[in-house]
Amino acid sequence: MRSVAGAGVVVTGAGSGIGAALARRFAAEGARVVVNDLNADAAAQVARSCGATAAPGDAASADGVAALLATAAGVLGEIDLYCANAGVALGDGEGDEADWEASWQVNVMAHVRAARLLLPGWLERGSGHLICTVSAAGLLTMLGTAPYSATKHAALSFAEWLAATYAHRGLTVQALCPMGVRTAMLDGISPAAELILGETAITTEEVADAVIAGIAGGGFLILPHPDVARMYANRAADTDRWLHGMNKLQTRTETAV
Ligand SMILES: NC(=O)c1ccc[n+]([C@@H]2O[C@H](COP(=O)([O-])OP(=O)(O)OC[C@H]3O[C@@H](n4cnc5c(N)ncnc54)[C@H](O)[C@@H]3O)[C@@H](O)[C@H]2O)c1
Repeated sequence: MRSVAGAGVVVTGAGSGIGAALARRFAAEGARVVVNDLNADAAAQVARSCGATAAPGDAASADGVAALLATAAGVLGEIDLYCANAGVALGDGEGDEADWEASWQVNVMAHVRAARLLLPGWLERGSGHLICTVSAAGLLTMLGTAPYSATKHAALSFAEWLAATYAHRGLTVQALCPMGVRTAMLDGISPAAELILGETAITTEEVADAVIAGIAGGGFLILPHPDVARMYANRAADTDRWLHGMNKLQTRTETAV
């Protein structure tokens, strides 16, 4: 799919932030959109604002994903594009057990469960499109929260695995990896994150622009902050130098906050 016009699209976590901007932009581009969020009022409001259909509920648990896909199929017929966008940023430092558990469920298992249920139909018809909202943290790291960094790496790895395994059978998988985006999540995160991300933070509409361009281009990584490509290359080319730089940034945040 190189354009969403006419497509049946589901966006999870679309009651606010990046997901809301994606839902609105897809609808403006002529897609038929299902707006999911845990927050039913927020999902309804976004859906109303763009002529979409609200499907509130948990997009992470096995039962929640199954219910969402059943509702979406009832509304859309075929689901052409599924945006696994819902995510949580939890845990100071190493994080506690609850932070890790919630992060695995929402940031990783939500994608796995959706893919498991969508793949049989997509492979049978020879086409399907999955966009996983990962983060630049999945390519690099996110100082201040280990659960977020590690689960976003896992989400990226799962998306890569799907693309490597099923591209020849018509599956398109893309990983959306922004750095800072002005949303409730960024506002709620640590002062260190604001210090690191604040200066280059972009709007949700700019992320939606990048996604539309990314769908047209078809590449695996969608990078609304183009600099992330260079940082990702630096991490791979000289990991020790990259880690040294990240640790210097960590010490700067410790003295600044
Ligand atoms: N804001 C950033 O700087 C940034 C940067 C990179 C990646 N991201 C990623 O973008 C995605 C969206 O984040 P955002 O910044 O728009 O945050 P946000 O907090 O504005 O929106 C997230 C939405 O997801 C919903 N949600 C959470 N768990 C859910 C679940 N189990 N089922 C359904 N909905 C659920 C929340 O209710 C919320 O409306 C996340 O995956 C996040 O990790 C954000």
